[in-house]
Amino acid sequence: CGIVGYVGPKRAQDVVIDGLRRLEYRGYDSAGIAVVHEGELALAKRAGKLANLDKVLADTPLPPAHTGIGHTRWATHGRPNDVNAHPHTGGARRVALVHNGIIENFVELRSRVEADDHVFLSETDTEIVAHLVELQVQSGVDLPTAMQRVCQQLDGAFTLVAVDAEDPDRVVAARRNSPLVVGLGEGENFLGSDVAAFIEHTREALELGQDQIVTITRDEVTVSDFWGRPVEAQRFHVDWDLSAAEKDGHDWFMRKEIFEQPRAVADSLIGRRTTGGLLQLDEMRLADEEIRDLDKIIIIACGTSFYAGMVAKYAIEHWTRTPVEVELASEFRYRDPIVDATTLVVAISQSGETADTLQAIRHARSQRAKVLAICNTNGSSIPRESDAVIYTHAGPEIGVASTKGFLTQLVACYLLALYVAQVKGTRFGDEIDEIMVQLEAMPGHIETVLAQSDAVYELARAHTSTRSVLFLGRHAGYPVALEGALKLKELAYLHAEGFAAGELKHGPIALIEDGLPVLCVVPPRGRDQLHGKMLSGIQEVRARGARTICLAEEGDSTIEPYADDLVRLPRVPVLLQPLVAIVPLQLFACELATALGHDVDQPRNLAKSVTVE
Ligand code: G6P
Repeated sequence: CGIVGYVGPKRAQDVVIDGLRRLEYRGYDSAGIAVVHEGELALAKRAGKLANLDKVLADTPLPPAHTGIGHTRWATHGRPNDVNAHPHTGGARRVALVHNGIIENFVELRSRVEADDHVFLSETDTEIVAHLVELQVQSGVDLPTAMQRVCQQLDGAFTLVAVDAEDPDRVVAARRNSPLVVGLGEGENFLGSDVAAFIEHTREALELGQDQIVTITRDEVTVSDFWGRPVEAQRFHVDWDLSAAEKDGHDWFMRKEIFEQPRAVADSLIGRRTTGGLLQLDEMRLADEEIRDLDKIIIIACGTSFYAGMVAKYAIEHWTRTPVEVELASEFRYRDPIVDATTLVVAISQSGETADTLQAIRHARSQRAKVLAICNTNGSSIPRESDAVIYTHAGPEIGVASTKGFLTQLVACYLLALYVAQVKGTRFGDEIDEIMVQLEAMPGHIETVLAQSDAVYELARAHTSTRSVLFLGRHAGYPVALEGALKLKELAYLHAEGFAAGELKHGPIALIEDGLPVLCVVPPRGRDQLHGKMLSGIQEVRARGARTICLAEEGDSTIEPYADDLVRLPRVPVLLQPLVAIVPLQLFACELATALGHDVDQPRNLAKSVTVE
């Protein structure tokens, strides 16, 4: 979910709605706003995307208030209808409150007050919190104290933001295991799930910690813990500006982000080598000694980030000879994993807020493992709770389906692998140099692939009546096949599945029927047998009627007889090929979804940052 709060001289409705627009990628099942005006609350909320709420407000604008809160929802408890939309209010409509996360003990909390004739309108776990905060202010305490007292009773994960009609000049928020940042303006202050909420007003921000409460007024920001003890919050400067959060002439953020990939990859490579040529990861707070002692690396992540982790396994094991496991973050802690002080857990997360990944990190640290985060979001929870961080420099990623986030994660994984190789001495200076030179050539190679976008678009548009697409890959091309299939599921709502090409004959080949499109990521020709084995796989599916769309390197003529369609990739080493091979698959999914009339930036049922387990 996305959350916004504002106090200042501007019209609260405008600031809050603009903030929600920039946060809508976090959830778009419903949206709502509450403002405080002349001692009363005014609310508007609607199921569906923010555009629905916009219509309501265009017909009936809220009063010209200067204090407001807003919410855009990714539904957990209760269907995404008007009633369940946030903000929720107490029974006397004095307090309005928005929430991101899950209140685990809400049933018990509800039963405590139901006896006192409290009537609940919604099915959410949030409404009870609005009632409890309201009861507190009605008993005479101020809003910050009310929030503290209520938070002490809550179990679960939450960001809460509340206003009190009788205290019109402040907004109070609380955070536990769920994101919240403060935007520091002049004579105005902001709250947001992330900085995108207020980037058009200020680039100065405050990072909040766990179990903290923040109160904003026009001129003041005060932070305390849940027991009212003052806390020093950390200030930071946001180093990207508003234009990074605009579409720049593209129809979708996603398309813009696909085309930003050469720059994002280049930015993620900048400054990683000392003048002496040694690799340096300056956000790396692990001693060389600790790295030398590592006997196992476990990568944990979700979704697209998980597939970046799968590619990382190939690179890390090959370059460092250190065993790597890759595990879905949501599975990790429930299987009693074998982790100790000689394990490095690498958590990959674009947003830095994914609850499954965060919980897995906590479990790993409780077992004494060191945790290194690969993350795109400064100051988010995952890097805050890790021992070391490699930041990717993709810039803000707004499209729900990850693209430049993925490519820069791959870069960070290669850098990590090389760094470990350097420290452990499994690869020497000139080998590392050579790979770095190859990596530094990647932005140019990605440009070359992007230059073929029109041909890929045409191919995509020819598939609008397709119901199912398979993806095949081998070695580092296997995670690419999985990610290519995920993009198509997310955006085009098609049945799409990725397979390791060698596994095909053990079952999935039964799916092949006449005309079924099969996208094949062909490995570069090399000394190993990968390329030849892939060709056999392609022939097997073609013999059974599949239509093959092959991604193969420039100059590879052996593929031509077996490819119904062919997209050329630049010649790069197999381990780095994912950086170029995924690009046509991103373009394909984006264009096919566009042709089908889907909302590419906000696919149904998804959210960019999933802050619930
Ligand atoms: C959500 C998004 C996916 C993303 C996954 C992991 O499910 O819809 O696109 O890959 O979360 O996100 P993270 O921010 O941890 O990389």
